[in-house]
Amino acid sequence: HEMHTKFKTIEKIEFGQFRCDTWYYSPFPSGYHNIDCLFICEFCLSFYIRKSELQRHQLKCLLCKLGHPPGDEMYRDTERRLSMFEIDGHKNPTYCENLCYIAKLFLDHKNLYYDVEPFLFFVLTEYNETGFHIVGYFSKEKESSQGWNLSCILTFPFHQRKGYGKFLISMSYQLSLIEGKYGTPERPLSDLGRESYLSWWTQAIIDYLKKNKDGEITIAGLTKETGIKDTDAWWTLEQKHLIKYQQSQPLICMDMAYLDLIYSKAGRPGLPVKKDCIHWVPYK
Ligand code: COA
Ligand code: NA
Repeated sequence: HEMHTKFKTIEKIEFGQFRCDTWYYSPFPSGYHNIDCLFICEFCLSFYIRKSELQRHQLKCLLCKLGHPPGDEMYRDTERRLSMFEIDGHKNPTYCENLCYIAKLFLDHKNLYYDVEPFLFFVLTEYNETGFHIVGYFSKEKESSQGWNLSCILTFPFHQRKGYGKFLISMSYQLSLIEGKYGTPERPLSDLGRESYLSWWTQAIIDYLKKNKDGEITIAGLTKETGIKDTDAWWTLEQKHLIKYQQSQPLICMDMAYLDLIYSKAGRPGLPVKKDCIHWVPYK
């Protein structure tokens, strides 16, 4: 892949009240390269070379006046003031393409698809008096022949390590459970993606083991309850040394103190998805 080796051509982005360095090359349209800072509208994601252009744009942009992303609100947690929007790549192609261009600034290798039509985009926002401010998103194929429940995931750098990545992962599994399926993220995962998934899977599996410690523990049961694919569960158990084989029979560790230790080493639990706050029906 050619993109992999390209140097970045946009040094920084300014986005709402935040400014941050970019990490990688992204194939923005010509005319938007070899610049120090790209100014991005945090509500509609249109981008500008000059701040004055952005400001002029914001005076006449409807989404900026409304102060939220396009699409349908499908989650609202009034306590934490989190809200999520579902955006159909077919209905809002420009917004979704811009999101892909921006995401690529923080993704090294991923085959990011700029043909957004086959995807749904789930945009997570923090809301306050000044609007619904995007903190991250994930994309999901409307129809996945490989059983992928998430294609691309991003937390904007200025919001990373606050538990939003785990929230997005949890949401991707909640959507799979609503669809009556299990799922797995599209491969390859980036290093940060793998770390985040391993951490989330570890904690979800340990929650399941502890909850069912007096009953029957099966990977099929885990899959049914969490939406985690069996191969991901086995991989996680092996990575965390939570499984051993006796006469080729797998034995899962049920030492509660050890499970607690592994759980805490996997990081913080992440922001929870509250099932009652989801208002979503699968794509048809
Ligand atoms: N170093 C070490 N561990 C990390 C890490 C880092 N920089 N970033 C995340 N993790 C691990 C930690 O265990 C972390 O939990 P902790 O903060 O309690 O220790 C856990 O993953 C998840 O953290 P969380 O705050 O929920 O995730 P996030 O909001 O920072 O988002 C990504 C995680 C992957 C979405 C984010 O790093 C990102 O957008 N990266 C760039 C795009 C990308 O690579 N996407 C994945 C494509 S497959
Ligand atoms: Na990736």
